[in-house]
Amino acid sequence: MIAITGASGNLGQLTLSHLTKKMDPNRVVAVVRDPKKLTSYRDSGIAIRQADYDDPESLVRAFSGVEKLLQISASATGALGQQHELNVVKAAKAAGVEKIIYTSTLTPSPNAVFGAGRICSTTEQAIKDSGLDYTFFRNSMYQETIPMFIGSAVQDGQIYYPSGEGKVSFAARTDMAEALANVLTGDGHHKATYRITGDEAFSFADIATLLRSEKRLDATHHDIPSEAYKEELGKTGLPQSEIDFIASMAASIRIGEFSAVDDQLENLLGRPRFKTSDYIRSL
Ligand SMILES: NC(=O)c1ccc[n+]([C@@H]2O[C@H](COP(=O)([O-])OP(=O)(O)OC[C@H]3O[C@@H](n4cnc5c(N)ncnc54)[C@H](OP(=O)(O)O)[C@@H]3O)[C@@H](O)[C@H]2O)c1
Repeated sequence: MIAITGASGNLGQLTLSHLTKKMDPNRVVAVVRDPKKLTSYRDSGIAIRQADYDDPESLVRAFSGVEKLLQISASATGALGQQHELNVVKAAKAAGVEKIIYTSTLTPSPNAVFGAGRICSTTEQAIKDSGLDYTFFRNSMYQETIPMFIGSAVQDGQIYYPSGEGKVSFAARTDMAEALANVLTGDGHHKATYRITGDEAFSFADIATLLRSEKRLDATHHDIPSEAYKEELGKTGLPQSEIDFIASMAASIRIGEFSAVDDQLENLLGRPRFKTSDYIRSL
């Protein structure tokens, strides 16, 4: 049996959809906090099991009989996100799971500028220490996050983002999901670490260039001061911890934590990756 955590999320649902084209759905377990979110899969043959990252026993129950687990990284940030991820690793070990495929981030490190980079580093280490087999997908940013970064620039061309000349090797979420399904249904990949990126990295000035060529917009990137960015985020009423997390993403891009480009995603897909220029054109 193959199980997926975070199965009701964007990456989880895309992976479920690729996975069920490659294997018997009766051997797939979708682990969700709220089963109502997967009602469209009710008659698909997939087993839908309820579990919450805050409830370790529910995780052990949900992983019963599972050999391979796709652990999709937690959406909570800070200490809570870290605890959620460590709860999943411990429960997998306790339930007798043999292998974890974990979606990490491109540059995990105890000293990462990106908040999630520090969490992913600790989780990768916990998986290694568990003695289970593993495959790490060190994912770059999704192309689908571009609208979040550039805001209303799709209409007016003006990008205000404190990322300097830092580049991001955006990759399509559906490409990542298909590659995950290939690894989950394939052999090998033992103790392998893959950098999952697009075929090119783009600064936000490069994104402005794409908006000019693909959308005919008079586009510009304004590298605003980080403090001004945080001040703007503060006006949205977000808690300080979320503001710090979002700002850490920009600072991390600025210093190049998302700039690496690797062929691994294309190798795992056996076809070219979706291009960021095509994504921008589709906006
Ligand atoms: N590479 C990137 O650009 C990028 C961007 C954003 C996020 N990420 C990371 O990649 C992960 C997957 O991305 P995504 O777009 O699929 O995120 P998503 O749509 O937000 O999915 C997150 C999933 O985690 C589940 N979840 C949250 N808290 C939970 C809990 N306490 N117990 C059990 N399940 C819980 C959610 O369940 P509900 O449906 O019940 O909320 C959802 O299924 C994210 O969680 C985040 O770590 C990466």
